[in-house]
Amino acid sequence: MSFAVGADAYDRFMGRYSQPLAPVFADFAGVAAGQCALDVGCGPGALTAELAGRLGADSVSAVDPSESFVAAVRARQPGVSVQRAAAEELPFEEQLFDTALAQLVVHFMADPVAGLREMARVTRKGGVVAACVWDHGGGQGPLSVFWTAARELDPNVPDESQLAGAREGHLAELFAAAGVHDLEESLLSVDVEHPSFEEWWEPFTLGVGPAGGHATSLDAAGQAELRELCREKLPPAPFVVSARAWAARGLA
Ligand SMILES: C[S@@+](CC[C@H](N)C(=O)[O-])C[C@H]1O[C@@H](n2cnc3c(N)ncnc32)[C@H](O)[C@@H]1O
Repeated sequence: MSFAVGADAYDRFMGRYSQPLAPVFADFAGVAAGQCALDVGCGPGALTAELAGRLGADSVSAVDPSESFVAAVRARQPGVSVQRAAAEELPFEEQLFDTALAQLVVHFMADPVAGLREMARVTRKGGVVAACVWDHGGGQGPLSVFWTAARELDPNVPDESQLAGAREGHLAELFAAAGVHDLEESLLSVDVEHPSFEEWWEPFTLGVGPAGGHATSLDAAGQAELRELCREKLPPAPFVVSARAWAARGLA
């Protein structure tokens, strides 16, 4: 539900971090001309755009369960084949792709091992399966100031730190359970500059993802209290948020 939002809201909230992450993740996965790739949980298309640029739109397929994101990628990336589907049930035959990637998706899968197993099933034998998830568990994700402040105000608020793949070593464990082999893990990093506190804060009020869901669940006074605590915790603007994601790759 927290991804039943418009592509523009997503871009302003998370796209500002996932767009610069896409080339770093594609390098880690070894995406190179001549390959045919699947983007699982494509959202409005941060990684899809990077894959289309490297491989050509005709060599890229993408899936996402969110109707608004599927529509956005169709409009933004003509030539890419986009379908509404979840990782756990990919609508493709076996070994169709050279590589299958999931950027910032495993922690939202209902069954991460089943999703990764499906990604391996549709990848040719010896092809690369890769995924990355923000280091929410280690407090190095792009939302860590928000969640620290939110839990200071209400220790019962569930943050994203316990989600699948969001801590060191866990993605590799999930890959192994899904039968993916020759595993490598790495920590990817992006730096994003925020010109003002308001530019950083305002997208949290758009209701995107668990953090946006929490911000919009508060009444006006609660939201203002959270906003001001975040302001105290951040350096004076302009400031840079350094966001780190755990990434794993292996062979199908
Ligand atoms: C944080 S967004 C990442 C989007 C995009 N990959 C990016 O890097 O900007 C998470 C995405 O996972 C999608 N998603 C949620 N559950 C999923 C599942 N079971 N299988 C595939 N995608 C899923 C959501 O709809 C959303 O688009």
